[in-house]
Amino acid sequence: MNFHTRKWVKPEDLNPNGTLFGGSLLRWIDEEAAIYAICQLDNQRVVTKFMSEINFVSSARQGDIIELGMTATHFGTTSITLRAEVRNKITRKSILTVEKMVFVNLDAEGNPAPHGRSKIRYADEAFERYSEKLRVAMQQPSAMLASESTEDVDQEADAAH
Ligand SMILES: CC(C)(COP(=O)(O)OP(=O)(O)OC[C@H]1O[C@@H](n2cnc3c(N)ncnc32)[C@H](O)[C@@H]1OP(=O)(O)O)[C@@H](O)C(=O)NCCC(=O)NCCS
Repeated sequence: MNFHTRKWVKPEDLNPNGTLFGGSLLRWIDEEAAIYAICQLDNQRVVTKFMSEINFVSSARQGDIIELGMTATHFGTTSITLRAEVRNKITRKSILTVEKMVFVNLDAEGNPAPHGRSKIRYADEAFERYSEKLRVAMQQPSAMLASESTEDVDQEADAAH
């Protein structure tokens, strides 16, 4: 699981109990998961379809630094399923888990559309492919022009998350 995003718990994020408000956490998680799904499926038209039970394991307090983790657990035809965890950045203590978040890939009309993906794309892999294609392109510029533009290669490297 990759923990990309960190948050600093501030006064405006607290509930009357003085701990992190669940609604703030869910907003962060939904946004982080949507960005993860967009990057994996390479499509901005992705919507949240389903969230399983949310387990608030422990609380966070003002000043805590927390981190949001995501991993894809299943690639369907039009959907992607993620697992999410939030933990304290310093102590690594788990704060929240969501076993299943389903996002659906949409076409321009807003209908579910096949995404054609079947496995997680990592930024390192995309960067290696990018470097290799650039190396080939520099050796054989005509081959590069025949296959794809450097713009396509740039987009591929940017997409992985
Ligand atoms: C997303 C939406 C277009 C899907 O429409 P739909 O008629 O349910 O579409 P489908 O039945 O074809 O299902 C689409 C995918 O979602 C999956 N899915 C549907 N209902 C599901 C559920 N309850 N749990 C898990 N997955 C589900 C299907 O298995 C399918 O995945 P697959 O193609 O990988 O097998 C529609 O439900 C919608 O617009 N919902 C509102 C989304 C929204 O506004 N979200 C909040 C803001 S982002």
